[in-house]
Amino acid sequence: MFCPLKILATARALPPRVLTNADLEAMVDTSDSWIRDRTGIRERRIAADGVATSDLAAEALLAACTAAGIAPGELDAIIVGTSTPDTLFPSTACWLQHRLGLRGPAAFDVSAGCSGFLYGLEIAAGLLRGNARRIAVVGAEVMSRVVNWQDRSTCVLFGDGAGAAILGPGDGSSGVLGSAWGADGNLARVLYQPAGGSRAPATLATVAALAHTVHMEGNTVFKHAVTAMSEAATQALARAEIRPDQVDLLIPHQANTRIMEAARARTGIPADRLFSIVERYGNMSAATIPVALDEAREQGRIKDGDIVAMTAFGTGFTWAASVLRW
Ligand SMILES: CC(C)(COP(=O)(O)OP(=O)(O)OC[C@H]1O[C@@H](n2cnc3c(N)ncnc32)[C@H](O)[C@@H]1OP(=O)(O)O)[C@@H](O)C(=O)NCCC(=O)NCCS
Repeated sequence: MFCPLKILATARALPPRVLTNADLEAMVDTSDSWIRDRTGIRERRIAADGVATSDLAAEALLAACTAAGIAPGELDAIIVGTSTPDTLFPSTACWLQHRLGLRGPAAFDVSAGCSGFLYGLEIAAGLLRGNARRIAVVGAEVMSRVVNWQDRSTCVLFGDGAGAAILGPGDGSSGVLGSAWGADGNLARVLYQPAGGSRAPATLATVAALAHTVHMEGNTVFKHAVTAMSEAATQALARAEIRPDQVDLLIPHQANTRIMEAARARTGIPADRLFSIVERYGNMSAATIPVALDEAREQGRIKDGDIVAMTAFGTGFTWAASVLRW
């Protein structure tokens, strides 16, 4: 069902420090060519010591509000998709308010891994059908804090960053034409952080075992990511009654070039519509789609009336896709 809304503005916040594949060659047994061939990644951004997820989220949110011409206090709700919250509680969205000295807007996190931004968009679309008039959806991560820097199979993949979008009801010409979302919690252990929560609270032993870092079966994730991202996109397109060749721009979750390309091919969206930033930022989990959206807009790749498809997959497993008329 068509849900009228408008993305009034987007913005991004990326830490200035660049970690290249050459830098990683000096840290673990890897090579620039292995990383580029398997993932398409050349470099990623790393947050400075002391910079938390809410700091990047606040920077992106403020810039997005400025671009939308509104004050953060005018927002009805702030939704932050993240897997790397500042603390287990309160939410990163509340820490963001703390950082900005903001009081009033409802604030909460969505824990859906790399699907967090599109989960947030789906929730925001529902809220805009009610009384809400201005909603911020933010994807923000400091993945470098949960990466095991001794594990070459994961540490080369991730990066830090944040992106924000300000949503309003619009004039009825733009909105969500179709969407799909889902999850399969049976596969939770394929990609997870074993310790630091109520199941295995942090102890000297869990810290010594690096159990608070990313544990992942990369091959299994790869296969499920391609299937779920393409199926979700296909379902959202069908609901939108949009053919794959009508899509002007496809912004998939930016985990890895091969995953994005395989998901695009299965969906049948032409190759020239795929928008990729993974080469420069790696996998920023929930932040990849809003950062890519912001760069695509800046480059003039999205104009009013365009059909924009987004699809994501993440820990959980979770998946989500959304087809918008801009
Ligand atoms: C991680 C990933 C790039 C690995 O690629 P792959 O083709 O599946 O590679 P494999 O895991 O089969 O490993 C192949 C070999 O490369 C080695 N290898 C792993 N990481 C390496 C690295 N950074 N540098 C060099 N060699 C590496 C492995 O040890 C293995 O060696 P072996 O054959 O001697 O055992 C890939 O599985 C992937 O992208 N998975 C999805 C990850 C992801 O996106 N997660 C987040 C989803 S939201």
